[in-house]
Amino acid sequence: MIEPLLIRAFKHEPLVRPPVWIMRQAGRYLSEYRTLRQAHSFLELCKSPELAAQVTMQPIHILDPDAAIIFSDILVVGEGMGLEIDFNPGPKVANPIRSRSDILALKNPETTADLGFVFDALRITKKELWELSASKPGEPKALIGFAGAPWTLACYFLDQSLFKNHYATQVLLHQDAETLHLLLDRLTKIVTDYLLGQVEHGADVIQLFDTWAGNLSAEDFSRFALPCIQRICEALRSQNCPVILYINGCAHLLEALRQSGADGISIDWRVPLSTAEEVLGNRILLQGNLDPAALYSAPEHLAKKTKTMLNALKRKSGYIANLGHGILPTTPRDNARLFIDTIKEGWE
Ligand code: CP3
Repeated sequence: MIEPLLIRAFKHEPLVRPPVWIMRQAGRYLSEYRTLRQAHSFLELCKSPELAAQVTMQPIHILDPDAAIIFSDILVVGEGMGLEIDFNPGPKVANPIRSRSDILALKNPETTADLGFVFDALRITKKELWELSASKPGEPKALIGFAGAPWTLACYFLDQSLFKNHYATQVLLHQDAETLHLLLDRLTKIVTDYLLGQVEHGADVIQLFDTWAGNLSAEDFSRFALPCIQRICEALRSQNCPVILYINGCAHLLEALRQSGADGISIDWRVPLSTAEEVLGNRILLQGNLDPAALYSAPEHLAKKTKTMLNALKRKSGYIANLGHGILPTTPRDNARLFIDTIKEGWE
């Protein structure tokens, strides 16, 4: 069977066009998703493997991207650790971490017992993708698994009620670095096991979301967030599974990211792709980076902006087209489709 374009991009094979998918491609901008959400809560969807697989496949049928990303959330690992999590729609932790003893009291999730619903959803989706590619001509699609990186998970699991912008994590860094290291170390082990489980159950590629690490100075990033990322990437390398790392607001971290160990870096829209290419070099795959707000442009402008992004790189390989962050919940779906169709026209 031919390999999915997404996998070939990681091998830096020259391609006639880059693979394309959209961060948060399953979600509220699709009426089919909203219909399911009327009958089920978000967590119900995540925890019912058949429904999660169905939601994962919705954008595949509607937009025809080159990859499916499993429908779940970065915070589902928290429940197995003893945290009570709810979404309305933003995540809320009823019993956030407030002290060192709270960290010591955290449980290690039993990956199969506590997170088996994600593994089952991956298995079902993988089968559906396989059936789709057997029944329809076209490029086979890759399956992406994901997790939050330890720094970003800490930003949701620590009590942030006294601060805005998840600053409590940075405050702890300056107040009591050792306690923060203790938490990050626990999270690194948990995320590593969880991701290895996802690979075992069918994920072809892993995306690690360190959404909030852009809040850190380059020096603090290198001391606190980066070592966790490196350990996770190293574990996945032993399984030959490519890793894409996403950080929102990564311009000042590009130098440090050369050492992340990730096979690909997903760039936010504030950084010109050409700058990322210069700093990160040709061996690291790049992903991104259209501003999600650009999907609200008039169609002819959107097509033009998409083509400008596509042709900003010197390379014609080692690139995955995507947005610079998740698609916004009110995005016109025809424009999401136009973005993908424009990428499929290929490089100029
Ligand atoms: O990409 C996909 O289609 C897979 C699904 C996915 C979700 N969350 C579904 C979701 C992925 C990859 C995530 C990751 C995630 N979750 C991140 C990292 C990526 C990023 O956007 O930076 C973060 C920070 C979260 C935490 C989270 N979950 C927030 C802040 C919110 C509320 C804001 C929002 O987008 O609604 C959620 C809820 C959430 N996660 C929804 C979905 C579809 C909306 C829930 C609903 O249906 O009401």
